Amino acid sequence: MNVSLLAQDRIEISDRAEFRDAVLEGLSRTPRAIPAKFLYDARGSELFDAICELPEYYLTRTETGILQSCTPELARLAGPGCALVEFGSGSSVKTRLLLDAMPDLAAYVPIDISRQHLDATAARLRRDYPGLRVEPVCADYMALDSLPADVNGAPRLGFFPGSTIGNLEPQDATAFLRRARRLLGDRGAMVLGVDLRKDPRRLHDAYNDSAGVTAAFTLNLLRRMNRELGGTFDLAGFAHEAFYDQIQGRIEIYFRSLRAQIVTVAGRTFAFAEGERVHTEYSYKYDAAGIAALAKSAGFTIDRTWTDPDRLFAVTYLEAAP
Ligand code: TRP
Repeated sequence: MNVSLLAQDRIEISDRAEFRDAVLEGLSRTPRAIPAKFLYDARGSELFDAICELPEYYLTRTETGILQSCTPELARLAGPGCALVEFGSGSSVKTRLLLDAMPDLAAYVPIDISRQHLDATAARLRRDYPGLRVEPVCADYMALDSLPADVNGAPRLGFFPGSTIGNLEPQDATAFLRRARRLLGDRGAMVLGVDLRKDPRRLHDAYNDSAGVTAAFTLNLLRRMNRELGGTFDLAGFAHEAFYDQIQGRIEIYFRSLRAQIVTVAGRTFAFAEGERVHTEYSYKYDAAGIAALAKSAGFTIDRTWTDPDRLFAVTYLEAAP
């Protein structure tokens, strides 16, 4: 038997063990929940890209529009020669708007948990921006506490778009921003994209699109459990559910069992009651006061906020408070 493994195989095996442990733990607790990061396998990432193009999903389009018009001012605020540090860079599409406006960056440091995504993106950026130093860091940005030594010296500008901050529970959002504040240093600044509170109908529709892409995205998690963990989820027996809780100011996302049923996954058996839900994600929505409180609690001050004319979305420029 050949027991030598390629590095990539080893990563896949440890990824699978992490997925299995998280699923078994998440389905064993009450109420049930599976962490949202497992939604993003190859198919999930494709579906998420499709969500970003949906007519109901105004977030990506609106944030991109804001960035297109605010980057000149943003570049002035940041000044020349800083290192741009992106938390969860994915395919770095919005980043290009900043790179185009800031031709004199000391470096671009994309941080992403997916080695494949990171390498592919770094290669494309090096091709398209030949003068740019790209220093990818493969890590979980929630747990990272240092940057490559060769970007020492340059002031650091963090970038956290897509209202991903809203996918963190408020105390985790503060903890993340505090960590970012430490990582970026006393001369650091941060560009943060945040979805704003608004008409509940509009929010509801953004997570319940009529083409069913968001539903397919949620149910892809069941498909992934079937494929990678030998699961027996019947995809017709579960449905995507998302609704806005106006008191909490958050979208809650689940998959829901349509009937009483028994499912096996990773060798364990779980009974689902009719209507029972498994939580996958929150998407918190902020207002101006909420963003200010969040920034303050993490050691930042808000220097500037840009929004679209309908005030759907905000891009804020935070500076490290002394
Ligand atoms: N940051 C995105 C958001 O909160 C993530 C997201 C969009 C999402 N649509 C989703 C997560 C559907 C789960 C399900 O809007």
